[in-house]
Amino acid sequence: MNEKIIVVGPSSQLLAMKTAKILGAKTVDCDFKTFPDGETYLRIKLDKEEQIRDKEVIIIQSTGKTTSGDQNKHIIQLFNMISAVKRMNPQKIKVVIPYLAYARQDKVFRPGECLFVQTLLKMIEDAGADELYVIDIHAPKALEILNIPYYNLDPMKALANFMKNELDIQDPIVVSPDKGAVERSTAFAKHFGDDVKVEIFSKERDVVTGEIQMTGELKVKDKDVIIADDIIATGGTMSSAIKISKKSGARTVYAVGTHPLMIKNAVTRIMDAGTNVIVGTDTIENPVPLVSMAKLLAENLQ
Ligand code: R5P
Repeated sequence: MNEKIIVVGPSSQLLAMKTAKILGAKTVDCDFKTFPDGETYLRIKLDKEEQIRDKEVIIIQSTGKTTSGDQNKHIIQLFNMISAVKRMNPQKIKVVIPYLAYARQDKVFRPGECLFVQTLLKMIEDAGADELYVIDIHAPKALEILNIPYYNLDPMKALANFMKNELDIQDPIVVSPDKGAVERSTAFAKHFGDDVKVEIFSKERDVVTGEIQMTGELKVKDKDVIIADDIIATGGTMSSAIKISKKSGARTVYAVGTHPLMIKNAVTRIMDAGTNVIVGTDTIENPVPLVSMAKLLAENLQ
């Protein structure tokens, strides 16, 4: 088997190190800084470039906004890493982006907009990625633009197992906060148990203001509601879904989001709406993660 080297991206240090330990793979760290004019600098910390030559190199770098930088900075760092590795003639470059920023820019909602997720994906391919791995991308269809092999890994089994084992959930029902999340919610429900039902909200977002309107008659009286979504950003979707679930008679409500971006006061908004438990993953480094995706990544990067 070819030796694997994991390049630990600045935005995914914990996840990359955990994955490397499971895989028994070597890791290389990066030096990074921002120049006074705002430009990003990154160097892969190698003594000799031969260390990379003919090796299978796995770059792990999330592109979410965290305290260490915004999505644009993390994307530029990703390109720095891909192009540095490419220049050193590896056998293969596997690019792992646990959270892909701009994934929600996958449709033209208003005249004059671009499909930025497609532009970004093509740029990653053109930079030299041989394979791309993402986790729970907002809309998997976006990946079809790629000509390289791609993998959209499903975190729902790990999330459902965590909740089954760690929380006292008696009478569960899964609620999908919008039609786009139905597949995800159904997968979650299936992993949770054979007879766990899924209820669906209808959500409309004002394309100009971003305001959301949620409607739906939910049969959740005295149930333990689990709301499963891909992204928790401002917490608007999640807090509306929690409020409606509570109003519909839910006993308890759990908020589950693969990618807990948790912008500004999202945590407060969600907990104020009526839950004590927010479950996320470590696709983005922030205070919420509970369920690590390291095992899922390691299984798929064998
Ligand atoms: C949208 O369709 C996504 O699946 C999420 O529901 C949304 O991005 C969450 O954003 P926010 O937390 O700002 O409502």
